Amino acid sequence: MNLTLKIWRQKDAKTKGQFETVKINDVSPDMSFLEMLDIVNEEQMKQGKEGFAFDHDCREGICGMCSLVINGMPHGPDHATTTCQLHMRKFKDGDTIVIEPWRAAAFPVIRDCAVDRTAFDRIIQAGGFVSVNTGAAPEASTIPVPKADADRAFDAAACIGCGACVAACKNASAMLFVSAKVSHLSFLPQGKVEAKKRVLAMVAQMDKEGFGNCTNLYECQAACPKGITVDYIAKMNREYLGATVTYAEKVYGKD
Ligand code: SF4
Ligand code: FES
Repeated sequence: MNLTLKIWRQKDAKTKGQFETVKINDVSPDMSFLEMLDIVNEEQMKQGKEGFAFDHDCREGICGMCSLVINGMPHGPDHATTTCQLHMRKFKDGDTIVIEPWRAAAFPVIRDCAVDRTAFDRIIQAGGFVSVNTGAAPEASTIPVPKADADRAFDAAACIGCGACVAACKNASAMLFVSAKVSHLSFLPQGKVEAKKRVLAMVAQMDKEGFGNCTNLYECQAACPKGITVDYIAKMNREYLGATVTYAEKVYGKD
């Protein structure tokens, strides 16, 4: 396949960015999208130009590092697939592919399509630790967990923290990510002790980082490569409301 790429180039968060057009020929349909970009970078460097920066790590769909908005879709056109698991067979000979970074104020551009997602780390840190001593793996089943709750917690824990939900949302809301992180602990008995403090702290940090509000557009759910659904947001909202009653003074002040 011969393709035209329009790739976002930006020196840093303070500099204005622009698209650069790059032609690439003889792309195999069996290549992954990131392998195709590796070849683009090899060619760029052979010509003495600087390679194009993009995030990646495991390339197996498990670490959450890859990103890229491809033809307007976070992680590209394949449903429930990370960019690293996207293959060139999804495109046609002669296609023009537009490649952009996650766009959100809380994810400043580091360079080109690589963005700073440490806001997510700070939200997780704000959630704190679980104080219950859960022991080691052999003790795992000493605290019984109903199967339905274990399944829901496991599904929430599938979130890889990629940030596609933020990139897909016109408000750059991080509610899907935060609700997955809140829920994977609050469904389990081990996570219930700190559940109220955790949801308050994580939502407060999310707001502090500058993510927008949820206006029920469901774009986050459509973009999520791990199938996290908006009912986790509804669950988090219920938990948050309950926690504000318990900690009303802390949340709203004495008056
Ligand atoms: S909820 Fe989905 S889209 Fe959002 S960070 Fe987690 S895995 Fe990525
Ligand atoms: S590079 Fe790890 S999920 Fe894509």
